[in-house]
Amino acid sequence: MKTDYASLRSQVRNFSDFYGAAITDAKKQISAAMSEMSEANKDLLEKYRKEVALRRKYHEQLVELKGNIRVLCRVKPVLKEDQHEEGQSVVVTTDPNNESALSVLKGQGRSHNFELDRVFHPQATQEEVFQEIEPLVTSCIDGYHVCIFAYGQTGSGKTYTMEGSTENPGINQRALKHLFSEIEDRKDMWTYTVTVSSVEIYNEVLRDLLSKDGEKLDIKINPDGTGQLHVPGLRVIEVKSFQHIKKLLAQARRNRITFGTQMNQHSSRSHALLMTTVVGIDLASGAKTTGKLNLVDLAGSERVWKSGAEGERLKEAQNINRSLLALGDVIQALRGKEKHIPFRNSRLTYLLQDSLGKGNKTAMVVQVGTHDSTVRLIHTDYNVCISIYVYS
Ligand SMILES: Nc1ncnc2c1ncn2[C@@H]1O[C@H](COP(=O)(O)OP(=O)(O)OP(=O)(O)O)[C@@H](O)[C@H]1O
Ligand SMILES: [Mg+2]
Repeated sequence: MKTDYASLRSQVRNFSDFYGAAITDAKKQISAAMSEMSEANKDLLEKYRKEVALRRKYHEQLVELKGNIRVLCRVKPVLKEDQHEEGQSVVVTTDPNNESALSVLKGQGRSHNFELDRVFHPQATQEEVFQEIEPLVTSCIDGYHVCIFAYGQTGSGKTYTMEGSTENPGINQRALKHLFSEIEDRKDMWTYTVTVSSVEIYNEVLRDLLSKDGEKLDIKINPDGTGQLHVPGLRVIEVKSFQHIKKLLAQARRNRITFGTQMNQHSSRSHALLMTTVVGIDLASGAKTTGKLNLVDLAGSERVWKSGAEGERLKEAQNINRSLLALGDVIQALRGKEKHIPFRNSRLTYLLQDSLGKGNKTAMVVQVGTHDSTVRLIHTDYNVCISIYVYS
């Protein structure tokens, strides 16, 4: 028994040495496996980064190929509440086999065919329209300045396209939702700060749509010496989530009705702008990008002399037409690479100056109704179409 006891004791003593050595060995094996894994991970991350950079490059090439100023047209469906004057018939038709064609009857069986970047038939959904805009929204995260305008006569569907309804939101909500989901996808490599402002321009007066009292604002040259414009007193709100944005959009919509357009709740007689700035920082290199996305629901163009408007309403219509013409002139001058771009001729173009110039991207969604005979004056050169449409 004594011998057994002595042998057991020595076994117990040795066990702790043996046990310690086994643990050290296992630890070594585990750490070797881990470092192997982390090497593989590093390699994967590097490949992923390259892949993302390549994707961005192709994305940019795609947007470049499509052109920096794109004109899309959305034809409004005929609604029950649309009352057409007697004798008016369908004059605008789309071609189911050609997504770029728009045909306008000129009478005596003749028609005028237009070719645009994209034409949406009356049954096109809000999502289909957004799909066409989506690459531009992505460009904004990559540091580009982007403007998206809805343009057209009163009642042609501009606000529907930009704001949409609660059940069926338009470009504004979809763009910001896309922006946040894209930011989430890139969070391992980039950190982003998103800020928004919203203003309306009514009779050439600029108002903050995110303030309670709709303060009048002015556009000034930034005293910081960068030569950039800024709007003193404009509310710039940092947003962290899509839900927060939805609240701000609702507030801006309510204010747009209250401040400028008491006369008619459904018609917008002002230009409404939702301006989003996205500042990104590359976590690896510290590089910074600043992109801007301007979503603009323009006021409806009107045939002043035909509408028989007088007094305030006439002044309103004249101001709207004047600023739309100024927008047309700016885009034409940009396309013509002219030395002088007349940004200062309207508040709208002055405010958007740093987003409309060279290297930026613009999409114009021209809204038309199927009974809209004025559309016959749209010129095939997209850029002048804007001014000609206003004159009609
Ligand atoms: N594609 C569409 N599908 C269904 N309804 C539409 C569509 N486009 C417009 N509408 C409806 O037509 C009406 C007029 O549209 P909207 O208010 O968007 O016109 P608008 O161009 O903004 O006019 P205004 O210049 O007077 O502000 C609205 O009731 C809107 O819901
Ligand atoms: Mg409107």
